[in-house]
Amino acid sequence: MDTRPIGVFDSGMGGLTAVRQMIRLLPGEDIVYFGDTGRVPYGGRSAETIVRYARQDVAFLRSFDLKAIVIACGTVSTTALSVLRSENSIPVLGVVEPAAKAAVAASRGGNIGVIGTKATIRSGAYEAAIRALLPEAKLVAKACPLLVPLVEDGRVRRGDAVTERVVEEYLSSVKAAGVDTLVLGCTHYPLLRDVIGDYMGADVTLIDTGEEAARAVAALLEAQGQLNDVSRKGERHYYASDSAEDFAATAALFLGKDISDRVERVAIENY
Ligand code: DGL
Repeated sequence: MDTRPIGVFDSGMGGLTAVRQMIRLLPGEDIVYFGDTGRVPYGGRSAETIVRYARQDVAFLRSFDLKAIVIACGTVSTTALSVLRSENSIPVLGVVEPAAKAAVAASRGGNIGVIGTKATIRSGAYEAAIRALLPEAKLVAKACPLLVPLVEDGRVRRGDAVTERVVEEYLSSVKAAGVDTLVLGCTHYPLLRDVIGDYMGADVTLIDTGEEAARAVAALLEAQGQLNDVSRKGERHYYASDSAEDFAATAALFLGKDISDRVERVAIENY
C-alpha cells in the first residue's frame, strides 16, 4: 500500500478517458490530473515544442509527492516518453506499449490500423511497438488532426453530421485496407467510439488507449506492492492551464460526473 497519488496528464481533456478507467479499476488510488487546456492541441506541433511542454507538465505534477506518472496522451507518449523517463526517478508510463499489446492480442489476422495526431503518426511509435510484438503485422496509419478539436468542442455524438463526415473522410482508406483492429492512438478518440465504430463496422475491434494505460498502471502498482485497498476512497484533483469552469463543463462529458468543486487553474508557464 502506498497512498501517494498517481499523476496523470494530457494536452487537454483526452487523458480523462484514462482517468475514468483508472477510477473504475483503481478506486482506492488518489489521482492528480493536469490538462494543458491553454495550449491544446499538441498534435500539430514540432517534437521540440511537445517535449518542452511535456517537461513543464511533469514539473507541475512533481510538485506533488507522486508514486507514478501516466502520460495519458498519445502525442506526448510517442514523442517524449524516453526523455521523461530518463529525467524522472519514479515510473513513467505511456499509452503506446499497452495499446500495442492489446492490439496484437485482439487482432485475428494481424491487419491493424492506427489513428492519431500528426505528431503521433509522424513518430511511427505505435507501428514500431506493434511490429516488435508481431513482425508480420500489416499496418496502416492515418493522422486525423480535426478529431481533437471536435472532441474538445463536445461534438462526439452519433448523428453529428460534421463529425460523421470527418470520420468518414479520415477512415475511408483505413477501412479499405481491411483492418480487423483499429488503435485509437489518441486519448481523445474513445469519446468518438460510437461514430468510429459505426463507420468501421462491428467486425473491427477498437483499442482504447486510455483504458489500456489504466490497466498497465494497475498491473505495475500490483507488481510493486503499491496498490491501495479498494475499500479506501481515492481522492481526485484536477488542474487545467485555462479556465477551470470550462474544464469542469467538458470533463463531465468525459467522466460522466460533475467535478466542478475539484478543478483549479494553474499557471503552467511558471514550471
Ligand atoms: N489526447 C492527445 C493525444 O492522445 C491529444 C493530442 C493533441 O493535443 O493534439 O494525442
